[in-house]
Amino acid sequence: MPPSTGPGFAVLLTGFSGAGKSTVAEELLRRWTAQREVTVLDGDIVRTMLSQGLSFSREDRDLNIRRIGWVSAEVVRHGGAVIIAAIAPYDGAREDARTMVEAYGVFGLVHLSTPLEVCEGRDVKGLYARARTGEIGSFTGISDPYELPTRPDVVVDTSELPVEASADAIEAYLRQRDIELP
Ligand code: ADX
Repeated sequence: MPPSTGPGFAVLLTGFSGAGKSTVAEELLRRWTAQREVTVLDGDIVRTMLSQGLSFSREDRDLNIRRIGWVSAEVVRHGGAVIIAAIAPYDGAREDARTMVEAYGVFGLVHLSTPLEVCEGRDVKGLYARARTGEIGSFTGISDPYELPTRPDVVVDTSELPVEASADAIEAYLRQRDIELP
């Protein structure tokens, strides 16, 4: 088990479905695992376990992000690193996650600002097509809102930046906050 280095931290990758959250999360994980314990909390997986049964109503989305924030704060409290990949469309819940994590370490809110047209064009999971026909309701960007982050620490558009450069921008922010990275 690699020893943890310095204080714990959590980065919350927020943005539309298809914005590149999981891809950037994988790149960060690849970079960091040799040096420290890294926990990845990906919305799709969290919703099969920790948040199983929650809907995509505003109330349930906020509950999902607050649960993720609480778990992240626990990990950060023990010096771990957390990568969160979730749409997290509401600013209040994102800022609640920040407050919980900052009680013990560093928090970074990373807005993957990839335009909706690009995300829909990618449609990796075929969900946008189903949202357009109304088969899936309350779909973020199509029939449900996404509030722009009011206090993003990093903003990256994955349609303009390669994944390595997006990860570099996130690492630059963390280093500025005195986090030691490989
Ligand atoms: S969040 O809004 O609560 O943060 P989360 O990131 O956990 O969302 O889950 C989003 C994932 O759920 C999407 O990547 C997609 O695969 C799936 N999904 C299913 N229905 C919806 C919907 N109505 N809106 C957004 N994502 C949905």
